[in-house]
Amino acid sequence: MRQEVALVADEAALAREGAKRVAAILRHVIDTQGSCAFVLAGGHTPTALYQALAVEPDIAWADVQIFWGDERAVPPDDALSNYRMARESLLSRVPVPAAQVHRIRGEDPPEETAAAYDALLRRLFRGLPQFDLVLLGMGEDGHVASLFPGHPALHETRKLVVPVIGEHIDPPRITLTLPALNGAERVMLLVSGARKTEALRLALSGGPASLPVQWVRPRGSLLWLLDAAAGSRLSRDTLNAQVRQDV
Ligand code: 6PG
Repeated sequence: MRQEVALVADEAALAREGAKRVAAILRHVIDTQGSCAFVLAGGHTPTALYQALAVEPDIAWADVQIFWGDERAVPPDDALSNYRMARESLLSRVPVPAAQVHRIRGEDPPEETAAAYDALLRRLFRGLPQFDLVLLGMGEDGHVASLFPGHPALHETRKLVVPVIGEHIDPPRITLTLPALNGAERVMLLVSGARKTEALRLALSGGPASLPVQWVRPRGSLLWLLDAAAGSRLSRDTLNAQVRQDV
């Protein structure tokens, strides 16, 4: 696995740089493979990136299959819905065929939804999914998708999609598991804001894996796209030679 750490000035620069890099990957994969399986992240960080991506030129959106890394157990029009955020910031602005937008049905019971999405992935990929690009955010506790520290979902090794239910998880979630995420060719981690500094420092320290994000190990490349606030506690030698300092 190739790893790159790119540091940009702030959240707006992260959105611009992220959109440019995602667009370049989509174009490359479509040009070389004819189609692209693209997994969207939820939460707040990707919103501006999706808005910038929506106006990137020369992307054959008709050749893109859209998936989600996780979803909240809410209806698609709920303010907490990752689908709603993606629809408003990207999918309503680009011509992806509706049949290629594979929404996680948050309105149904999480156990049913997880089983159905697991079956969909196995059918579409004829086995383990090999996504071309997975976008992920990272929580302050180092979670990715809805794989939270200490939750059994983090240690699932067989299923591709599981429900995430727990005392402090409100609303419940549905999440792709590490086997599903790590089958990807590329993962792009989007980390913005000072709240993430400690988790990021731990995650990039090279120490023993203690945070969910440290178990993200895709087949090809892992890009950490950070803004200066999130990366403020990274030592110089942690940041590799490919650090980008956007003005
Ligand atoms: C979600 C995401 C979750 C998110 C992180 C970071 O459904 O919320 O899958 O993993 O990416 O919690 O969230 P922010 O981008 O809002 O900081």
